[in-house]
Amino acid sequence: MGKIVIAIDGYSGCGKSSTAKAVAKALGFTYIDSGAMYRAATLHFLNHFLSPSNPNDVEKGLKSLEISFQINPDTQKQETYLNGLNVEDQIRTMKVSERVSEVATVKQIRKELVAKQQRLGKRKGVVMDGRDIGSVVFPDAELKVFMTADLETRAARRQQELLDKGEMVDLEEIKTNLAERDRIDSSRVESPLIKTPDAVEIDTSNLTFDGQVAQIVQLAKAVIEKE
Ligand code: DC
Repeated sequence: MGKIVIAIDGYSGCGKSSTAKAVAKALGFTYIDSGAMYRAATLHFLNHFLSPSNPNDVEKGLKSLEISFQINPDTQKQETYLNGLNVEDQIRTMKVSERVSEVATVKQIRKELVAKQQRLGKRKGVVMDGRDIGSVVFPDAELKVFMTADLETRAARRQQELLDKGEMVDLEEIKTNLAERDRIDSSRVESPLIKTPDAVEIDTSNLTFDGQVAQIVQLAKAVIEKE
């Protein structure tokens, strides 16, 4: 099958990551979670008491930041590593979610992470999800999807996800966090979350998971056939 780049952007908690992962599996493509990189960077700054608003701290933080992905041989799931340590669970906690949007507003941090994302996607055959994949990272992506879902649906899904991992979080707290992240992500100066005119919008509020995956796979196959 031909190789293309599929960019999936959208609001926090729309199910972008799980959808992108399933789409990649169906097409035999590589999945890259760009949000995990911003989360790992955030954890790094938190661990070392570095402030993303202090340029010296940003320089120091970026110099000592090494992010990679590895497939867990037991679960076959992709996991995020920060300076050689598996941080997959730590980066999904509320502690990181509460700070990540702030870290993601910093130009220098975005520049480094975007360059890494572009390197990872250079050989195509990738599905990458995030906020600026179709607009900045891969403006020439052959397929761009913009996922949305109403806040209630997103918060309920996120609560279940956290619960499955043993973290019990109040629904209102999750709603506030999602709404706040949407606000910061959409209004920031550096690469704000936008729907590019060439992106296909998919509202997943009333779609099943399999339904949304099938829809994107179908779009991808149509693009690949034309390539
Ligand atoms: O996709 P996620 O919720 O794991 O992403 C975490 C945060 O990282 C999100 O609130 C905004 C930021 N992010 C970004 O600015 N650009 C990306 N390409 C991906 C994520």
